[in-house]
Amino acid sequence: MILGIETSCDETAAAIVLRDQSGHGTIRSNVVRSQLDEHAAFGGVVPELAARAHVEWLDHIIAQAADEAEINLADVDAVAATAGPGLIGGVLVGLTTAKALAASLGKPLIGVNHLEGHALTARLTNGVEFPYLMLLVSGGHSQFVLVRGVGDYERWGGTIDDALGEAFDKVAKLLSLGHPGGPAVERIAKTGDRHRFKFPKPLLREERLDFSFSGLKTAVRLQAEALAPLSDVDVADIAASFQSTVAFIIETRSRQALEKFSSLFPGQPMRLVVAGGVAANREIASVLDLLCNRVGAELIVPPIALCTDNGAMIAWAGAERFALGDTDKLTIAARPRWPLQDDDMRVKSDAA
Ligand code: KG4
Ligand code: ZN
Repeated sequence: MILGIETSCDETAAAIVLRDQSGHGTIRSNVVRSQLDEHAAFGGVVPELAARAHVEWLDHIIAQAADEAEINLADVDAVAATAGPGLIGGVLVGLTTAKALAASLGKPLIGVNHLEGHALTARLTNGVEFPYLMLLVSGGHSQFVLVRGVGDYERWGGTIDDALGEAFDKVAKLLSLGHPGGPAVERIAKTGDRHRFKFPKPLLREERLDFSFSGLKTAVRLQAEALAPLSDVDVADIAASFQSTVAFIIETRSRQALEKFSSLFPGQPMRLVVAGGVAANREIASVLDLLCNRVGAELIVPPIALCTDNGAMIAWAGAERFALGDTDKLTIAARPRWPLQDDDMRVKSDAA
C-alpha cells in the first residue's frame, strides 16, 4: 500500500493505492485539489503562487486521502512523491513532505518521475502488458515513449517548442476563450467550419517523430489579427480549423510511431496508450481510435481523471518500483528537468 503525492504543477494531489502480488492495482483514494482559481486571473500557472498553495493544502489533502482510504498513514508500505520534472517550488513542497513522512513513519521513500507516473497509469487502470507505446499530450509535455518495462523507457521524439496543451491554451487566450484553453477551444470548435482556414503543419514532412506547434500557433494569431475584430463565427472557424490541423498531425505521427513499434516487435500486439490532459479531446481521441482500428492496434485511454495530473499515478508508479525493491535515499534531489530515458531514471542525491 503506497501513499502517492503529486505537486509538480497546479494540482495538489495525494492518493492511496494498493498493488497485489499478481500486479493488480486498486485505488483506495485519490484526492486532487486544482489551483485553477488561484491562477485564473493570470491566464496561466504562476509558479510562486502554485508553490504557496501546495504548502497550504498538501497536509490536508494527504489527511483526506488517508481518511477516504480508511487507513492510518502508518499503515502504508512506502511514501512516493513526484521528484520531477516540473515547477521546482512545487516539486520541493511535495518531495520534502514525503521525506518528512517517510522519516517519521520509518518507511521507504520513492522519488517518482512524473512522466513515469503517466506512462504506467494504463497498467493500473487497464492492466496493460509491456511493451507498449505511449503518447503523452499535456500542458507541459508532448512526446512518444516506448515503455518496455518499469524503469525501461525510450523517448521516441517530442515537441521541439510548445506542448500540445500549451498550444491549445495559447490559441484560447488569443481568441479570448479563457483558461484552461483546451476544453474551451473544443467546445467552440464544435460549431465551426474546420475547412475555412488552412493552417501549417510544421515538421510533418520530415521523417522524425517530433512535433512543433509554435509556428501553428503563430499562423493562428496572424489569421486572427487579419480578421479582427473577430465575429463569433470567425472564432469558431479558427478553433475548428486549428483543432482539425492538430488532430491530423497527431494522427500522422502516431501512425509513424506505430509502424516503428511493429517493425521493432514483429508479430507482437500493437498497443497505443494515450495520457495527459489533451487525451480528453474528442476529435483527437476519435482520429486515434480510427487509426488504431485501421492498423490493428489496441488504443488504451485511461479514465480522464487519471490522464490529468493526480496522486494515484504517482502512488502506482511507486508501487511498481517498490515491488522491484527499488526505493530511494532521503537525500534525493528534486529535478526541474528529468527526461524519461532508462539511462537517466534514478534520482540522484543532493550530495552527488
Ligand atoms: O495533464 P494536464 O492536466 O496537466 C499537465 O499539463 O500536466 O493537462 C492540461 C492540459 C491543458 O493545457 C489543457 O488545455 C489541455 O490539457 N486540455 C485539453 C482538453 N482538456 C484539457 N486540450 C484539448 N482538448 C481538451 N478537451
Ligand atoms: Zn502531467
